[in-house]
Amino acid sequence: MDTLITIDNLHKSFYDGDSELKVLKGVNLDIYTSEILSIMGASGVGKSTLLHILGTLDRPTSGSILYEDEDITTFSERQLASFRNNAIGFVFQFHQLLPEFTALENVAMGRLIKISKRNKSRDTDLNNNSTYQDAQRLLEDVGLAERLDHYPSQLSGGERQRVAIARALINQPKVVLADEPTGNIDDKTSQAVLNVLQKINERLQQTFIIVTHDSRLAERADRTVELVDGKIAD
Ligand SMILES: Nc1ncnc2c1ncn2[C@@H]1O[C@H](COP(=O)(O)OP(=O)(O)OP(=O)(O)O)[C@@H](O)[C@H]1O
Ligand SMILES: [Mg+2]
Repeated sequence: MDTLITIDNLHKSFYDGDSELKVLKGVNLDIYTSEILSIMGASGVGKSTLLHILGTLDRPTSGSILYEDEDITTFSERQLASFRNNAIGFVFQFHQLLPEFTALENVAMGRLIKISKRNKSRDTDLNNNSTYQDAQRLLEDVGLAERLDHYPSQLSGGERQRVAIARALINQPKVVLADEPTGNIDDKTSQAVLNVLQKINERLQQTFIIVTHDSRLAERADRTVELVDGKIAD
C-alpha cells in the first residue's frame, strides 16, 4: 500500500498564560492512499485537534506531516491555503451549509469559487454548467436526486449531512477529513451516509480520515486507530 501521509512525532499544546495544555504528545501514524481510516478516542483526547492540523486549519507545536513527501508544517500561509483548497475536503459535524442557497448550489459553490479565484475575477460566476452537472451527480450519489432544489432548512439533519459530504467532494480532493460525520443523525441514516462514503471511495479512490465515536462506523472503515493520552495506541 502506498503511504499518502506520514505523521511523525506530532505535538500540540494550547497555552493559557503560563499554563500549557499538552493535547497531542507524539502522534506517529502512516495513512495510506485510498483507505478509509477511522480515528476513535475519548472525548477531549484531541481527535478534532489532530484533524484540524491534518487539514492545515491549525499548526502543530512540533513534529512533521508529510503529504506525499512534502512537509506541510513548513508551508507559508499562502501555500497552506492553496494546498487546503486543492487537496482537502472537509465534512464537519455541524455542517455549515449556506442557508440562502439550495442543495445543488451549496455543492456547486466550492467549485464556482475556485474557478473565479483561478480566473482572478472579483465576482463569482454562478453559471458554469459542468459544475452543476458534477454537483448533481454527487447529490445523486448521496441519494438526494429528489432534493436538489431544497434549501437547508427544508432538509433533514441526515440529508444536510449528505449535502455536506457531496460539497466536500466537488473539487475532487485527495483527502476527505470528516469530524463525526454521523454524530447527529440516527442509525439508519448513519448507515446510509456510510454507504455513500464507501461507494464514493470505491468510485473515486479518495482517502477518508474519519473521526468518530460511532463503533458501527469504525467497523466499516478499512482500519481504525485509537488516540489515547495524546498518542496513537499500539
Ligand atoms: N483552541 C483551543 N484552545 C485551548 N484548548 C483547546 C483548543 N482546542 C481544543 N482545546 C482542548 O484540547 C483538548 C482536545 O480537544 P479536541 O476538540 O481535539 O477533543 P476531541 O477528542 O475532538 O473531543 P470530542 O470527542 O469531545 O469532540 C480539549 O481538552 C480541549 O479543551
Ligand atoms: Mg472533537
